[in-house]
Amino acid sequence: MASTVFIAKEIADETRVAASAETVKKMKGLGLDVVVEAGAGILSRIPDADYEAAGARIGAASDGASADVVLKVRRPTSAEIAAYRSGAIVIATMDPYGHEEAIAEMAKAGLSTFAMELMPRITRAQSMDILSSQANLAGYQAVMEAAAAYDRAMPMMMTAAGTVPAAKVFVMGAGVAGLQAIATARRLGAAVSATDVRPAAKEQVASLGAKFIAVEDEEFKAAETAGGYAKEMSQAYQAKQAALVADHISKQDIVVTTALIPGRPAPRLVSSEMLKSMRPGSIAVDLAVERGGNVEGSRAGEIAEVNGVKVIAFSNMPGRVPASASLLYAKNLVTFLETMVSKETKALALNLEDELVKATMLTHGGAVVHPNFGGAKKGGQADGE
Ligand code: NAI
Repeated sequence: MASTVFIAKEIADETRVAASAETVKKMKGLGLDVVVEAGAGILSRIPDADYEAAGARIGAASDGASADVVLKVRRPTSAEIAAYRSGAIVIATMDPYGHEEAIAEMAKAGLSTFAMELMPRITRAQSMDILSSQANLAGYQAVMEAAAAYDRAMPMMMTAAGTVPAAKVFVMGAGVAGLQAIATARRLGAAVSATDVRPAAKEQVASLGAKFIAVEDEEFKAAETAGGYAKEMSQAYQAKQAALVADHISKQDIVVTTALIPGRPAPRLVSSEMLKSMRPGSIAVDLAVERGGNVEGSRAGEIAEVNGVKVIAFSNMPGRVPASASLLYAKNLVTFLETMVSKETKALALNLEDELVKATMLTHGGAVVHPNFGGAKKGGQADGE
């Protein structure tokens, strides 16, 4: 009998969905049965009929109980964990750091769970990289939100009635989200500058036509880990960076912050003092808010006002472009799931020795297995370093 994949309707304020019509077709082709919870794709503009046409059966939440694989956007809630059968594979954005209790709960329920955000950044796994696919859209959307909230025009306009100056946009953190924010702001005609602590970012920023601004000392030259991520910088570096940024920010109209350090709270880069130095009507968008925020005073899910500066800190920025975000997310998941299906027998065949499985598997066989979350340490599983 074919294994069954269940696509859950997300609860809480999640607009995305973990499958598209295209990925349902792909799963059917792999020999899997697919059940989509009714209405799961509505907020991502995927009607049930599209899933059905692709070969899925439309079911109810209770269908999760008999599934062999559950695909989700968010980590399952306690009720969902209790509903799924022991031994089921659950693949989602697990947001594991700081949520060890939830991980233990999934282990106790006998689920084999996979955190997509722990996928190694190697060539083979590029098409499974949810951090990239979602951060790219988040960077784009951050600039869209800023442009919409900005009371002025973004591009320079020379008209008979006078000249509108180009908006000055400063992007802090030039990873996937930051680079897309730079590109988007440039397309809108803004004058863009950017900063990062990784030297590799310098060239990428310049190649997008933005000005690179950073404290380029010895620490900066060693700030990138083997995994391509940033390290947490020293107090001394942070102070130098703050002085440089304080001067620059006072001349900016829009600041977009995207700085993250894997497994650590987001670095605080913009103080209230810096916000106060900006002219009224300026905008700050804090993409790091879910990890503590880069901007002082940013509040998750809100637009805060600091001395006439709007601090936009929507949680789940990719969820504000759900129809695009879901398509990419779904593709990331199905590409990973494909590695767990035997080509010959079309049965689920979890290879515990696969490096992708090792890197992402949080719980299995009733235990927490990931070394970063209390599982036994084995070679080659640490992230980033
Ligand atoms: P991220 O989301 O962890 O962090 C965002 C950015 O914030 C990074 O560029 C980081 O250097 C920067 N940052 C951290 N602390 C900072 C501070 N104190 N001040 C200023 N900036 C700070 O990073 P993301 O977007 O995931 O990208 C990390 C790297 O991985 C990039 O070089 C990216 O190009 C690379 N990458 C490689 C892939 C692959 O090889 N398959 C796929 C995707 C990304």
